[in-house]
Parts: sequence; structure tokens; C-alpha cells
Amino acid sequence: ELRGVVALDGPSGTGKSSVARKLAAALGARYLDTGAMYRAVALAVLRAGVDPADAERVAAVAATADLVQTTDPEASTTTLDGTDVGAEIRGPEVTTAVSPVSAVPEVRELLVAEQRRIIAEALEQVGGIVVEGRDIGTAVAPSAELKVYLTADAHARAQRRSRQDAASGRAASLDQTLADVRRRDDYDSTRAVSPLRPAEDAVELDTTSLDLPATLAALLELVEDRG
Ligand code: C5P
Repeated sequence: ELRGVVALDGPSGTGKSSVARKLAAALGARYLDTGAMYRAVALAVLRAGVDPADAERVAAVAATADLVQTTDPEASTTTLDGTDVGAEIRGPEVTTAVSPVSAVPEVRELLVAEQRRIIAEALEQVGGIVVEGRDIGTAVAPSAELKVYLTADAHARAQRRSRQDAASGRAASLDQTLADVRRRDDYDSTRAVSPLRPAEDAVELDTTSLDLPATLAALLELVEDRG
């Protein structure tokens, strides 16, 4: 059983989401997908007809969006204005819009505050939570019990992404996916506020040649070492 916070950061396609869910379930903990929250704001921006690059109007949309993220590891949901948007936020339009939206300081301020509230509630209710994102160890939960930074080479990440996309009926070429993965990493690592980078006290785990069960086993071992 987990007491406290596990922060899981890293770029897309490292297997982060799948393994974070499984880790939380194995530890009897909650699971928070912070990427889903940024994606939901990006969807709200698109629905409002606002240009994702228009920071001022993006901030205004974020301030009024009614966003609810739940934390059951087997059944977490993302709702926007009362309807489930879990499928829509994985689509290509949102994936393209999310990086500029998440680079807006007011958006991050709002979501980080909400993430901290969700984390505090989970700690109170079940004692532990696995939080997945880009800035969890550096900004959202700097005092997390365990911080892990997942990496994998860009080709491996693009391959995983395109397999996931194919499984959910969204075909894209591997070249397209690789370009997309690189563009998003680049954007996320060079933005001014909370850029993607490992916390100083994070353990780095390279998943290039690890499948899901092996990654889960490595994480469980790290949790045990801390406990
Ligand atoms: O993890 P996921 O691919 O769903 O994240 C989508 C996007 O949300 C990332 O590319 C990044 O721009 C943003 N994000 C962020 N900070 C987080 C989680 C996600 O900026 N903690």
C-alpha cells in the first residue's frame, strides 16, 4: 500500500499512462492523469472557436471551463461542461492544440491548483496517489515521496503511440506520429513555465526495451525501496 505521492513525469509515448494506472491499482492508490486536464482545456478552446495560440482568449476559456477529473485507477473520467470527453480529448485536433494551450501561464496556474486540491483529497481519503504528467516532480508535488522520470527513444515512443492510435481506430503513418511526438516534446521542453525536465531528485527509468509488465515491476520495486 502506498502512503503519499508518486510523481511520474516524462514525454509522450513512454508508456506512462498505462503503467501509472496499473501502479495505482496495485498500490490501492488513486490515479491522476494531468495530461487529460490540459487536453480538456484544449478541447474547450477548440469548441469556443478560439485560436490555441491566442494566449489571452485561451486563459479566458480556461477560467470558465467546467472541468472534472476523477481518480479511480480502473475508471477515471474527464468531463467538460457535464459530458464525458475521454475519447474526444485523444483525437488529433486536441493533440495538436494542447501544447500551446498548456504553455499559457494562467492555464497552468488554474490546473496546478486543482491538481493539488485533488491530491490532498486523495491523500486524506485513501492515503496515496500516483500522479502522471510533465511537471509533477518539479512543480505540482515537489515533496512527492517518489519521483520517476520515464524516458524512451523517440522511435520507440512513436511506435507505441501509433499502435495505441491504431487500436482506437485512428490511423496515422509512423513518420507522421514520429514528427508529432518530436514537435510536442520540443514545445513542452522549451516553454517558459514549468518546461518538461526531470526533477533533481527523480529516478530516471528508460523504457525503450521494457514492456508494460517489466516497467510496472521496476516501479513497484522503486516504491518498495522508498517504503
Ligand atoms: O500526457 P499527455 O500526452 O496526455 O499530455 C498532453 C499535453 O499536455 C502534453 O503534451 C503537455 O503539453 C501538456 N501537459 C503539461 N503538463 C502536465 C501534463 C500534460 O503541460 N503535467
